[in-house]
Amino acid sequence: MRTLKPFSLIALCIPATIACAEAISVSSSLLNEPIRPLPQSMSLDEKKVLLGQKIFFDKRLSRDNKISCASCHDFSKGGADPRQYSLGVDGRVGPINSPSVFNTVFNFRQLWNGKAQSLEDQVEMVIQNPVVFDTTWQEILNKLSKDKALVQDFNKVYTDGLQSKNIVDAVSMFERSLVTPSRFDAYLRGNPDAITSEEKQGYKKFKDYGCIACHQGINVGGNMFQVFGVMSDVRNRKTPPSEADLGRYTVTKKERDKYVFKVPSLRNVALTAPYFHDGSAATLEDALDVMFIYQLGRKASNEDKTLIIKFLNTLTGKPPKTMPVEQKK
Ligand code: HEC
Ligand code: HEC
Repeated sequence: MRTLKPFSLIALCIPATIACAEAISVSSSLLNEPIRPLPQSMSLDEKKVLLGQKIFFDKRLSRDNKISCASCHDFSKGGADPRQYSLGVDGRVGPINSPSVFNTVFNFRQLWNGKAQSLEDQVEMVIQNPVVFDTTWQEILNKLSKDKALVQDFNKVYTDGLQSKNIVDAVSMFERSLVTPSRFDAYLRGNPDAITSEEKQGYKKFKDYGCIACHQGINVGGNMFQVFGVMSDVRNRKTPPSEADLGRYTVTKKERDKYVFKVPSLRNVALTAPYFHDGSAATLEDALDVMFIYQLGRKASNEDKTLIIKFLNTLTGKPPKTMPVEQKK
């Protein structure tokens, strides 16, 4: 098994975006666990967050004015897309399942193959992507600059007003606000009654079977790359593989990066079906079966799987404070 060095909490603590000092200092009062709780507060510029929220729901970001970020990142579905593959401009079908936008600030990279180094990078990529917005900044700025109220909003928040870099900045700030503390975080902060005894047993199984080797840290994932198919060749699942199935290889072109993916965060996982980069698992039960075979090479009793799923349900957080203004498909 190829293990890459996980990111430390300190490295994930981005000054000026997270209450950094808090994230580090509270750690002494926490249970000493391989999963860390989400920070209880984020120091973010609220004006930028609210402006970013408007942009996130603005369909003028797409060439045909029909889809917004929220079209594929549904707040009522854990910030993910309930469809196996999302539909972009002109109903074009993307090659890969849409993950959650919640808590993404804590991922060490963005996208399944880690191609985006930051949330800002990801926004830049999605604008021109032909299966997403299929447009250019020039087109977007032409449309948005006709909206006097929005132009004014940008002038209030940014000295240089409505510009692509400020749109990127505002959206990324909004994304940083999408943090969803759960009952499990309360447990990690030292409240033993925040989760039930079955859920505790499920967490123990999650550690004992070795899920924790990959799904760990503040996002219960999102802090390392791992091959999909450690114990058994994933090529047996599907022939021929699609380009997206090659994972990180599509970024690095290195043979050893074939079928390597960023380990996904399991926060809100009970809400974000279907699962895997190809959306091939419809339920958590299906996803666990695949994980046991391909990542662990082990079998588990139905009872143990049920307990693990109970634990995974404790990772469902409160919806982010900044809730959508409108949400239409
Ligand atoms: C047409 C559907 C669609 C739209 C519109 C869309 N996304 Fe996504 N988003 C996806 C898909 C699919 C992925 C996974 C792509 C990949 O990994 O290659 C993704 C990935 C992401 C990720 C990475 C999450 C992670 O865990 O790696 C973030 C962050 C994100 N999107 C934010 C946004 C924002 C912000 C917008 C608007 C500016 C947006 N998305 C618009 C479908 C969409
Ligand atoms: C060796 C690393 C590794 C281990 C061990 C591991 N996983 Fe995973 N897990 C991954 C990777 C990588 C993916 C993404 C695979 C893909 O879609 O290509 C993943 C995906 C998932 C998903 C789907 C998440 C989503 O949003 O689509 C779930 C659920 C999951 N794992 C649960 C578990 C559980 C439960 C265990 C223990 C029984 C476990 N994993 C063990 C690496 C691992």
